[in-house]
Amino acid sequence: MGRFQERYDRYRAAVEEALQSLFLRSKPYGRLQEAMRYSLLAGGKRVRPVMTLAFCEALGGEARRALPLGTALECVHTYSLIHDDLPCMDDDDLRRGRPTCHRVYGETMAVLAGDALQAEAFRLIAIAPGLSAEQRCEAVQALASACGGDGMVAGQVLDMEGLARDEASLRDMCLRKTGGLLGAAADLGCIAAGASPKERRQALAYAEHIGLAFQIRDDMLDVIADQEEFGKPVGSDREEGKRTFVDLLGLERCGALVAEETRLAREAVAGFRDREFLLELADSLADRRK
Ligand code: IPE
Ligand code: IPE
Ligand code: MG
Ligand code: MG
Ligand code: MG
Repeated sequence: MGRFQERYDRYRAAVEEALQSLFLRSKPYGRLQEAMRYSLLAGGKRVRPVMTLAFCEALGGEARRALPLGTALECVHTYSLIHDDLPCMDDDDLRRGRPTCHRVYGETMAVLAGDALQAEAFRLIAIAPGLSAEQRCEAVQALASACGGDGMVAGQVLDMEGLARDEASLRDMCLRKTGGLLGAAADLGCIAAGASPKERRQALAYAEHIGLAFQIRDDMLDVIADQEEFGKPVGSDREEGKRTFVDLLGLERCGALVAEETRLAREAVAGFRDREFLLELADSLADRRK
């Protein structure tokens, strides 16, 4: 196994363990915890928290300090997926290789599980051990901006209302709906490491390019993936009448755009001494199959 894969697996194992410890207490409203854990622990690449831990270590911090921040981010990401799959949004039945949350627990519980995951994420940051009050506060701000009404949620509005039609507006939509949380992934790692403003800017630039490449690749996979491997429905965007980069540019030009954004992401962290993992992460996401 290569060093990249070993490091990815080390980060992912830490994240899985942290996620496993959440929402275990038995409550009279236990179906809520069950629904939250059902979606949270269904696998997933964990690329966002992996990026958080990677940036923290690359900038001289200890990964364990960034872990609660990465865990919180994965909770927000999972909430976004639960809501994204609802009948009122993308209306999908398959996620992470399993029936979607609302298919198993019903729409009401899926909405509420998403709501609770979002709130719990901010609680995890507020109580993160090993970070100063100032770092926690910065982390709250970074995550809230990334997922809120000018970030991921704004991107989802542009997507659902079909407001993005040309390349510039599609770019803006992707940067918000997908680049937002990936940007937070990088930034939370920087915050935990006590990075300089310049390092934070470079990390954010990396994540922004990754975000665009990641969503374009996702749109391509919606056409070309093997459903079993992808773990979610193929052809869902077309069925929902979504306008994506694939409609606008075709698969070949999308591939070229992913390559270009990946090159720009790599360039953004060229000045980092410990950059090898981040470079390989960018490459591995560009030709991912799930
Ligand atoms: C899916 O994200 C949503 C998009 C932004 C395209 P991921 O591809 O990271 O999904 P998981 O977490 O691995 O399931
Ligand atoms: C949504 O993009 C990204 C989110 C903010 C959840 P998609 O709708 O394309 O994500 P998938 O394909 O369902 O994972
Ligand atoms: Mg969607
Ligand atoms: Mg979707
Ligand atoms: Mg998609």
